[in-house]
Amino acid sequence: MNILFVCLGNICRSPTAEGVFRQRVRAAGLEDRVHIDSAGTGDWHVGKGPDPRTCRAALQRGYDLSPLRARQVAAEDFQRFDLILAMDHDNLLRLKDIQPDHARAELDLLLRRYGLGRGVVPDPYYGGADGFEQVLDLIEAASDALLAEIKGRL
Ligand code: 4NP
Repeated sequence: MNILFVCLGNICRSPTAEGVFRQRVRAAGLEDRVHIDSAGTGDWHVGKGPDPRTCRAALQRGYDLSPLRARQVAAEDFQRFDLILAMDHDNLLRLKDIQPDHARAELDLLLRRYGLGRGVVPDPYYGGADGFEQVLDLIEAASDALLAEIKGRL
């Protein structure tokens, strides 16, 4: 099972989702059966590590995001992944723009899929520190729900 998390820059929300969900999958002993990645719809930060504010907030909860590097989502991802989970409506629209016909991947909003929050992970980039904590809160809750779904599908 291959799962891709997508946000705008791939330096705040989707790397957080990648790191948090990978820890859940590892703790469940499923790391050999679930492949996890993240990408951005934009290309401004390609090759860079996650935002320092994201890294700091994540590390305080035990997630080390420092090895991650940003990349831009590509049409090929729709063949490589089973599930592509977007953080907000703008990401979802941009993904639909590049979605090929007969794509393998199912496309959805991460939070809406599980009825969490207001259905989207708000962009923390231009806000304060509490925004990064909120991203973690929402993504931790979604990761638990996603893991439960995946366990039922493996
Ligand atoms: P992300 O956050 O989509 O969660 O990675 C952002 C990162 C960068 C920018 C916007 C949002 N930016 O405008 O550069």
